[in-house]
Amino acid sequence: MESEHWKSRKVVVVGAGAVGSTFAYTLAQRGMADEIALLDANDDLARGQVLDLAQGQAFFPSIQIRDGRPTDYADAALIVITAGAKQKPGESRLELVRRNAAIVESLIDEIVRQNSHAVVLIVSNPVDILTYVAHKRSGWPRGRVIGSGTVLDSARFRHLLSQHCGVDVHNVHAHIMGEHGDSEFPAWSITNMAGTPIDHFCSICQRCDDWDAVRRGIAHQVKHSAYHIIDYKGATWFAVALALTQISAAILRNQHSVLTVSAVLEGEYGLSGVSLGVPSVVSSKGIEQVLEVKLPPDEQRALEKSADTLREIIANLEPAGSP
Ligand SMILES: NC(=O)c1ccc[n+]([C@@H]2O[C@H](COP(=O)([O-])OP(=O)(O)OC[C@H]3O[C@@H](n4cnc5c(N)ncnc54)[C@H](O)[C@@H]3O)[C@@H](O)[C@H]2O)c1
Repeated sequence: MESEHWKSRKVVVVGAGAVGSTFAYTLAQRGMADEIALLDANDDLARGQVLDLAQGQAFFPSIQIRDGRPTDYADAALIVITAGAKQKPGESRLELVRRNAAIVESLIDEIVRQNSHAVVLIVSNPVDILTYVAHKRSGWPRGRVIGSGTVLDSARFRHLLSQHCGVDVHNVHAHIMGEHGDSEFPAWSITNMAGTPIDHFCSICQRCDDWDAVRRGIAHQVKHSAYHIIDYKGATWFAVALALTQISAAILRNQHSVLTVSAVLEGEYGLSGVSLGVPSVVSSKGIEQVLEVKLPPDEQRALEKSADTLREIIANLEPAGSP
């Protein structure tokens, strides 16, 4: 049941660093929220970001932007968690797990204490592990605690395909599935250009000599994108902020968009006890439905491998003797 004080267009952003503040900026520009509250362990950073953003209000749709406090969780429609430690150059996303799991657990405890009715969107890395940890800690239905998953990776994939094939990225329908990280994979079986399956499109496009090599190259580039950007500038924030805005639109506007968010699986694809990026219908309830696409054996195996990788880390996180 919804709280009588619940606001359908209020968003709380936890973590006012590079990702959180860029997301707040993008969300404000799109006019998708009435109120954005920014929180950070560093109060000055949150205040500074809020002032900077609020002073641009003359140039974007009417919105209240302010620094927040935990009581803001109570009436929010969406809480986006970007709080946490930054990925260091050369550090794998999975190595961040212990540092960030404790932060996420304490935030979830506070959100639950505030009797929040929001959808919680986890962004901090490793996002799939933290989504699983957050969902477990909350005791909420799985749809309400979701991760940004491979939405960003899928956008990178679409961009590279668009560049290679010379087709508008909006006509490229393609998903990266699995872990947001090293075990992710392109779901070629459901990749199409304006409805034409990619292999068939390739035979009519004839832009390359060795499509298999191109496929491998694109998959490799997608997987290593974040590492390259981190090497160049220390972190990534623009594309992820736009990906988060897309997920937020699906939630705040009840769009029922199909996005590869990180979902806690409950038997779909024969998997459970793990959260990873799978095509899901996203609405104001969060994940409305996980779409169980029929994958060919090699892609099903890749998904299972990704799940195994994540489950191993989850097992290492859980105290010995816990079920
Ligand atoms: N899922 C994705 O696709 C994706 C993409 C890019 C970055 N990320 C992740 O997003 C997270 C944030 O990245 P960033 O570049 O903005 O980092 P950042 O260091 O710029 O910002 C993180 C902020 O979190 C704050 N923080 C730490 N603990 C907190 C707490 N308990 N409560 C409130 N605030 C707290 C810090 O003070 C800091 O300002 C990282 O974990 C990063 O790996 C995820």
